[in-house]
Amino acid sequence: MSDSRPIGIFDSGVGGLTVVDKIEKLLPHEDIIYFGDTARVPYGTKSKETVTKFSVENVEFLMAHDVKLVIVACNTASSLSLDFLRRCFKVPVIGVIAPGAAGAVNSTRNNRIGVIGTSATISSGAYEKAIRKISRKVKIFTQSCPLFVPLVEEGWTGGEIARKVSGIYLNGFKVNRIDTLILGCTHYPMLKDVIKKAVGPDVLLIDSAAEVAKEARDLLDASGLLNNSRRKGGQKFFVSDEPGRFIKTGGRFLRRRISCVKRIT
Ligand code: DGL
Repeated sequence: MSDSRPIGIFDSGVGGLTVVDKIEKLLPHEDIIYFGDTARVPYGTKSKETVTKFSVENVEFLMAHDVKLVIVACNTASSLSLDFLRRCFKVPVIGVIAPGAAGAVNSTRNNRIGVIGTSATISSGAYEKAIRKISRKVKIFTQSCPLFVPLVEEGWTGGEIARKVSGIYLNGFKVNRIDTLILGCTHYPMLKDVIKKAVGPDVLLIDSAAEVAKEARDLLDASGLLNNSRRKGGQKFFVSDEPGRFIKTGGRFLRRRISCVKRIT
């Protein structure tokens, strides 16, 4: 069995390209339709109602492209809106929270896990709930890091400012003796090096983007929805604001030039 329909991925903006990057590597024959809601980013400071309303519209857009699976790449939308999206749409919808939580629980040796994310993701408690579902033994420590997203979008992923900001946000994790840290935001994998320096080399970083890519592969495989063609998959990118900034910042996320970006209303 083979299903040539594309996978739909949406995010509040450019950050979800960290998920595209992992999907391209793990599922190279799949076509991808990506929607970045660049006109309404950030989601991380918005209410559940607003993020859910935007997310429903985003999935409706992807559905119009006949996608076989929707991946909510945005941690904030996954935290606040995934359950609602699953009730609204027939197509399978997966988010980044449960795979990231499972990856962390499977990796921790001392049962002390840290979670970082946007203010909305952290105050939703979504990662805590997902971890608790798997294990009651784990102690969880959380920290919102709102300045990380603008730092990444400016390309300031190394250097003194990134190091200082990371130190201020993450020093507490040393006191808490975590051995595993969930990068609970699309942008944070871009800051892996400075985050690693701030928390120490022994702390394992869990990239929710990599974890959701594995879940997508397993789900498509189990449901007979993989694209078994030998052809390399293609990507189409859509944004809700002018594409220039998305192309520039997105190029850094994917480490290549992005073409074929279309603005929609
Ligand atoms: N994509 C968002 C997330 O992963 C970060 C950017 C935003 O605040 O919209 O939570």
